[in-house]
Amino acid sequence: MTTWTPQSWRSFPIQQQPGYNDRDLLHRVEQQLHKYPPLVFAQETRDLFSQLGQVAEGQGFLLQGGDCAESFNDFNAPKIRDTFKVLLQMAVVLTFAGGLPVVKVARMAGQYAKPRSSDLETIDGVSLPSYRGDIVNSFEFTEAARLPDPNRLTTAYHHSAATLNLLRAFAQGGLADLHQVSKWNMGFVESNPLKDRYQDVAQRIQEALRFMEICGITGQNSPSIRETQLYTSHEALLLNYEEALTRRDSLTGDWYDCSAHMVWIGERTRQLDHAHIEFFRGIHNPVGVKVGPGMQPDDLIRLIDALNPNNVAGRLTLITRMGADKLADKLPALVRRVQQEGRKVVWSSDPMHGNTVKASNDYKTRDFEAILREIRNFFAVHKAEGSHAGGIHLEMTGEHVTECTGGAYGLSEHDLGKRYFTQCDPRLNADQVLELAFLIADTLRTARK
Ligand code: PEP
Ligand code: CO
Repeated sequence: MTTWTPQSWRSFPIQQQPGYNDRDLLHRVEQQLHKYPPLVFAQETRDLFSQLGQVAEGQGFLLQGGDCAESFNDFNAPKIRDTFKVLLQMAVVLTFAGGLPVVKVARMAGQYAKPRSSDLETIDGVSLPSYRGDIVNSFEFTEAARLPDPNRLTTAYHHSAATLNLLRAFAQGGLADLHQVSKWNMGFVESNPLKDRYQDVAQRIQEALRFMEICGITGQNSPSIRETQLYTSHEALLLNYEEALTRRDSLTGDWYDCSAHMVWIGERTRQLDHAHIEFFRGIHNPVGVKVGPGMQPDDLIRLIDALNPNNVAGRLTLITRMGADKLADKLPALVRRVQQEGRKVVWSSDPMHGNTVKASNDYKTRDFEAILREIRNFFAVHKAEGSHAGGIHLEMTGEHVTECTGGAYGLSEHDLGKRYFTQCDPRLNADQVLELAFLIADTLRTARK
């Protein structure tokens, strides 16, 4: 094996990268980003690593979620706040009802690069380069907008920094105080059919807090009641950007990708002899890799060994995304093999990407029932194999969008047009996320019995 450097990926074949016209400008932007401050610190990343180690050992649950693609235009405090709140609401429900510590990782503050199934998009006979995420080009369907622009790397950095700044403030500045939990009910939760159940959990948490207060454990003397830790993550697709933010930790001498705490490799770029695996093998972050229905047990072991040769718990999260029916068919052999070989991984379920369908009115959507079925099948397989169903990976938003059908409000295909805002894949809305949290909590509780 050759020596790893932050640049060594450059001599490997690579998929899903933009074709930049102005290579000089790209180089200048990369040089500039190299000098910018890191977005996250190695010690935080190590904290997440060890928490994921606990998850791998069956002592925790990973909740990862956020936009499919963050947007430069739709960038404001309420949007960040609402997704933060929904993630926290979901985490509280899972912690309390599921009885496990929940590690919270946002798909935020850097989720700007998208792999695409086709290089070109054709509308009414006109073909243009596909939209590849705001870090590459713009969503509008014009030639100018779709031209990859190196300056967008810098814009993505600044947007990520501002998002992270707000997330840190929310996590530590009082918004995450458990005493506030019952006040998080945003307007639309008021009319949610599950409102009573949520309020019942909220009330029981309040009672537990009151009891602890009597025993002398308060928000003043116990930061864990007043604050939370929300980590960040994204698909590290655009390696020019990731390389520029990769820094050597002065304490340990190890390399960390400081663009986020956790980064993952997508289903389309995880070829063993390609650039993404090369880049990921040298960084010391906890990393994820998507696992689709085509994965064979032998290849999975090779992939695990490439990314986690020392078999350290917490280093590697396998994010399965197979589709509700295929998962029941394909996952058992993979789990069994990983168990037999004694590999330590976090198994997480992405129930979104294998369940994307086109509605009759052409909207790309996902049905709540299919999403729930993939999650239930995921839990059932792990239970049957004696392995820990360790997490969930969702495309979701705190906004009241209509992008996925189904759920307690029974969104139909005809509702999709009302508030369909995603720049890429359909997301669960706040109601659907909360509903899912209760249903997963039930499954978690049963699985642990
Ligand atoms: C994603 O998570 O947005 C994504 C593109 O997933 P996958 O690589 O699993 O298709
Ligand atoms: Co997606």
